[in-house]
Amino acid sequence: NDKITVSTLKRLKKDGIKITALTAYDYPTARILDECGVHFILVGDSLGMAVLGYESTIPVTMDDMVHHTKAVTKAAKNAFVVADMPFMSYNISKEDALKNAARLLAEGGAQAVKLEGGIEIAETVKAIVNAGIPVVGHIGLTPQSVNQLGGYKVQGKDDKAASKLKSDAKSLEDAGICALVLECVPMDLAKEITESLSIPTIGIGAGQYCDGQILVLHDMLGLTQGHKPKFVKQYANISQIIKDAVGSYIADVQSQSFPTEEYSFANRKSDGK
Ligand code: KIV
Ligand code: NA
Repeated sequence: NDKITVSTLKRLKKDGIKITALTAYDYPTARILDECGVHFILVGDSLGMAVLGYESTIPVTMDDMVHHTKAVTKAAKNAFVVADMPFMSYNISKEDALKNAARLLAEGGAQAVKLEGGIEIAETVKAIVNAGIPVVGHIGLTPQSVNQLGGYKVQGKDDKAASKLKSDAKSLEDAGICALVLECVPMDLAKEITESLSIPTIGIGAGQYCDGQILVLHDMLGLTQGHKPKFVKQYANISQIIKDAVGSYIADVQSQSFPTEEYSFANRKSDGK
């Protein structure tokens, strides 16, 4: 058994081996990622857009997250599985945050939870970590705060915003996080933060100096429609593959070239043949 743990992640950073991470929301894709040797699978609240057809991550519920986390953890034999805590599941009270984080482990089977935010959530992070639940941080562009941030855009550009992100990273490390996602930050700032921490950084739109990289699976596979952010490299066009297959199926059914005898059960009676 080569199950990846919080210790593995720390060792990978120390050894300078890049951590590979992707999102997954269901059993078959999680199984493929696990078989490929991806280190870190995130059941992201990007679930909302990638799979549920929402316009943001804000409507995603705890029940949604538990449901999809269950499917992913059944498939992930080796990968470290992290589940996102959705909008408002950790902001109301520490008790609420602990209860919700616990559900993602106890019901969902995740190994860790991820929360968006810096200094303002450090006490909550500490409480979850003290309960024995590993926490992944997430700063920079934090999509649950999109209405506050005024859109999906690069963060930490001016000196004040950059130093806020640096102190956020430090306070989260002090609170006990096991890894930190940096989303949409300038590459030099991501490098500086990465070098200042003993826990690994996982970048998305944060340049090559992070200790690892993550992308939304549906974006990199070409399953997402509409706007493609600058940081997304598309590795396949799965939408086109599905369209081709479904198009052939429709044509075959209408022309009666499917199903042939090969795909049918033999006649009950042998007479008349
Ligand atoms: O929900 C998600 O997919 C994420 C990643 C983009 C880091 O939080
Ligand atoms: Na997320």
